[in-house]
Amino acid sequence: MSEDVDISVDFAGIRLANPVFTASGTCGYADELADFMDINQLGGFITKSITARPRKGQATPRIVETDAGMLNAIGLANVGLDKFIEEKLPILEKLTVPVFVNLAGETIREYVTVAERLATEQTIAGFELNISCPNVEKGGITFGKDPQQVTEITSAVKKAVGEKILMVKLSPTVTDISVIARAAVEAGANALSLINTFTAMVIDIETRKPVLANKTGGLSGPAIKPIAVYLVNKVYKEVTKDQGIPILGIGGIRTASDAIEFIIAGASAVGVGTANFIEPGCAVKIIEGIRKYCVSHNISNIKDLIGSLET
Ligand SMILES: Cc1cc2nc3c(=O)[nH]c(=O)nc-3n(C[C@H](O)[C@H](O)[C@H](O)COP(=O)(O)O)c2cc1C
Repeated sequence: MSEDVDISVDFAGIRLANPVFTASGTCGYADELADFMDINQLGGFITKSITARPRKGQATPRIVETDAGMLNAIGLANVGLDKFIEEKLPILEKLTVPVFVNLAGETIREYVTVAERLATEQTIAGFELNISCPNVEKGGITFGKDPQQVTEITSAVKKAVGEKILMVKLSPTVTDISVIARAAVEAGANALSLINTFTAMVIDIETRKPVLANKTGGLSGPAIKPIAVYLVNKVYKEVTKDQGIPILGIGGIRTASDAIEFIIAGASAVGVGTANFIEPGCAVKIIEGIRKYCVSHNISNIKDLIGSLET
């Protein structure tokens, strides 16, 4: 077979040259990892969460390594909307790949304020609605646990972003993720991203205190990958497949094989998170690995791989 395989994907109406993003919060606003990889080689870029006002985030220590991953309790530290527009948007404007801005807030009004201010920006292809952050006192996961609140926030933000793509980011720590996914889709989500991190704790046995100042943090990295693959497949089968809604699969992706697992499970695209801290630039290698897999498995178009799980 020729090396000429098509790994471009249609993602809620926009064409991605390949299915690989970096995950929100692990690659800043694009310039942080610029020395390690050419962001324009990615399928798309997702910013760190933005809130209306600047946030300092949680006290330190706010990161701790675990056997197969890490806990973070950054607490949505970010520059806030005004500084984002002034300083970060010009960086994002230089990118040639679709840019998604991740939105967070303490109230629905705050999410809507940020969404409305950014909705007319040409540079922005769409938004990722973070209703799954486990490390903040107000907002975050609180919205993402209750289907009624998911409906309310998704429809309010969808109204604010108009024609732009709205992707809703789901938490794994819910009773049935499909109920939440369905609420988001029925309220107007154009895509879903999953998963965010799991609330977890590491204890220092000498002090008998939690290592993180916030006591708990979100577990990410290879440890969560099989759960993330399972949840992507569950949401794909039970909610998105019939409606043609794409999934961005996230959770512990380090290699092309990991990414391919998510695509077979039903993800149209994938996000690389924690792996950026271990090997910045690995996302670009993953793209090449996906292409090689398609060549060696006679897959001329990656679309044939999406949701191709044999059972
Ligand atoms: C240090 C760190 C910061 C993060 N910040 C955000 C954030 O601002 N917004 C968000 O939606 N997710 C955030 N996440 C979650 C990731 O985007 C991703 O959903 C999660 O880490 C699982 O993927 P991974 O195992 O590949 O890291 C963050 C994760 C880490 C490790």
